[in-house]
Amino acid sequence: MDDKEILKASGIEKAYGGNLVLRGLDLSVSKGEIVSIIGPSGAGKTTLLRMLNWLERPDRGSIRIGDAYIDAASPEKRQVRALRAKTAMVFQHYNLFRNKTALENITEALIQVKGMTKKEADEIGDELLEKVGLSDKRNQYPSRLSGGQQQRVGIARALALSPEVMLFDEPTSSLDPELAEEVLCVMTTIAASGMTMITVSHEMRFVRNVSSRVLFLDDGNILESAPPEVIFTAPAHPRTQVFLRQSRLSDLNAGS
Ligand SMILES: Nc1ncnc2c1ncn2[C@@H]1O[C@H](COP(=O)(O)OP(=O)(O)O)[C@@H](O)[C@H]1O
Ligand SMILES: [Mg+2]
Repeated sequence: MDDKEILKASGIEKAYGGNLVLRGLDLSVSKGEIVSIIGPSGAGKTTLLRMLNWLERPDRGSIRIGDAYIDAASPEKRQVRALRAKTAMVFQHYNLFRNKTALENITEALIQVKGMTKKEADEIGDELLEKVGLSDKRNQYPSRLSGGQQQRVGIARALALSPEVMLFDEPTSSLDPELAEEVLCVMTTIAASGMTMITVSHEMRFVRNVSSRVLFLDDGNILESAPPEVIFTAPAHPRTQVFLRQSRLSDLNAGS
């Protein structure tokens, strides 16, 4: 392992019932890399992200992030806690606390998990709200925020945990185009700050412009892993070619 490598997943397998969803995946990510995962619905993209932070246990394989390591054969609680502390995930549906303000959604974990005082947590919360462009929404409840604003609170909440790797699972897929754009804009800023990111996305323009590497996942296998300029102009695998052609057609039909 070279010292730039921050995440290594080896031989990750997962089945639900008899349905093999991940078929022994290997993934190595360097510090500061922006890795985008693309692929058809049902390919296993969400499942892979959920394995990386041990939201769900793989049947086989191991994961290392920084100095945290777990093998699915012998996971220990202490190791699971250590691994989870390395990542923060931004979900497709924002999963904000409905009864907490934007600020409180961000500071909750800082106070409850990291043991900060309210004053210390509020200071960080205010900085992060500014970073995602929502200082003026500090005291609003989620029901008063647009989907894009809620998702930006979700991103600020994830950033508050100071993760080594951020995981994004289709963070814009339930948003109208202009709201998606403001979220993608925030993600681009975070990417430029040097954060290591693994992002599942159908926003091909974002994937193309921001990724250092693109993985094409299909039926539980990584069929291709290449820089965006290669994937989008000369994909090696026929399945990748078909997938990208279809996604261009649906973009055209959507008028974008
Ligand atoms: N909790 C679960 N129980 C049973 N099957 C699941 C579960 N989660 C995912 N699956 C199945 O695993 C496959 C991959 O799902 P998913 O990782 O969500 O794909 P993607 O995110 O690429 O659309 C799908 O066939 C899905 O139905
Ligand atoms: Mg998914």
